[in-house]
Amino acid sequence: MNYKNPDENGYYGEFGGAFIPEMLYPNVEELQKSYIDIIESEEFRQEYQELLKNYVGRATPLYFSGNLSRKYHTKIYLKREDLNHTGAHKINNALGQVLLAKRLGKSRIIAETGAGQHGVATATACALLGLECIVYMGEVDIQRQAPNVGRMKMLGAEVIPATSGSKTLKDAVNEALRDWINNPVTTHYVIGSVVGPHPFPDLVARFQSIISQEIKEQLLEQAGRENPDYVIACVGGGSNAAGTFYHFVNEEDVKIIAAEAGGFGVDSGKSAATTFLGTLGVLHGSKSLVMQTPDGQVIEPHSISAGLDYPGIGPFHANLFREKRAEFFSITDEEALQSAFELTRLEGIIPALESAHALAVLDKKEFKEDDIVVICLSGRGDKDMETYLKKLDEGSGKTED
Ligand SMILES: Cc1ncc(COP(=O)(O)O)c(C=O)c1O
Repeated sequence: MNYKNPDENGYYGEFGGAFIPEMLYPNVEELQKSYIDIIESEEFRQEYQELLKNYVGRATPLYFSGNLSRKYHTKIYLKREDLNHTGAHKINNALGQVLLAKRLGKSRIIAETGAGQHGVATATACALLGLECIVYMGEVDIQRQAPNVGRMKMLGAEVIPATSGSKTLKDAVNEALRDWINNPVTTHYVIGSVVGPHPFPDLVARFQSIISQEIKEQLLEQAGRENPDYVIACVGGGSNAAGTFYHFVNEEDVKIIAAEAGGFGVDSGKSAATTFLGTLGVLHGSKSLVMQTPDGQVIEPHSISAGLDYPGIGPFHANLFREKRAEFFSITDEEALQSAFELTRLEGIIPALESAHALAVLDKKEFKEDDIVVICLSGRGDKDMETYLKKLDEGSGKTED
């Protein structure tokens, strides 16, 4: 099976497609027809790669994490997406899509954001390339990721609160889709993850695939082989994970692990672990696994991490789960916090709360001593300092064996 790209209708196995209101047909069809030709054209690639190198700061390091490796008795490498300009992997996709929007003749950009990283990345790309930018963000997320709200405003973006439902990422996507329906001609919707109608999941995965492309090159140089034994990433919608897995999904010798947000625990009623709790449904324009009641009402998710607080999962990942190509772990809020403290104390790197979910897999899975384990450190923890300091005040920190 080819796990990497969807079929011509946008399906990964039984997941994907494009379930959209009629008003959006012209936009989505235009994208479906043109996205591959545009992003694979020589002119586009040159401009995009130039910016990735000299503006974003790629390639990001693949760091052999000696202290973490000693603790877990295996060989752990961290893919340092936290060192990108704006502090997360989101800029890889935002920059690509804003460049694409310019070529499609659009003058206005809208985006949704959870943790604020995708909003900041999109606002950054719009400042650079001279486009108007509007970012929808849940009211709860505006409170818990305040530093990123300030950055978006400074970058000239308008931040509009989403006040329905749980006032988090899902609700921000709803508002952004509503805006797009009302402004289909002038506007491009820069979706921040591998979700939404076809071709967005594939488009975003292609822009993020630079992560696994670099891992291959860097691992060959550092360890003498291109393929690790394991790749691990956290999954909200799934864009950093899709980028980390992309060039490995069709290679049988590489095992794939995804970390979802378990919140207070999968049985607690306050969770965002979609593969554990979800059933087949349609959310935000594509068919995938969705946390929903038997009659199709979306269940409000919960995660301490705004970027993982989402009741769905991209069709790319739903297919990996269904086909058992990837192993999924559910990580609780507390486990993620402990892993964030552990990385900080052992390596001097403060991770984003989202990325800390991927790190927490180290406590759940046994690795062999000579296994090579690559973990995507999707973002830095600056935006989460308030949460970390609160935890520190309560007396925490997993620092010892
Ligand atoms: C640092 C970081 N990692 C991960 C995510 C989750 O998104 P995705 O699953 O699309 O990578 C986010 C979302 O905001 C994020 O900011």
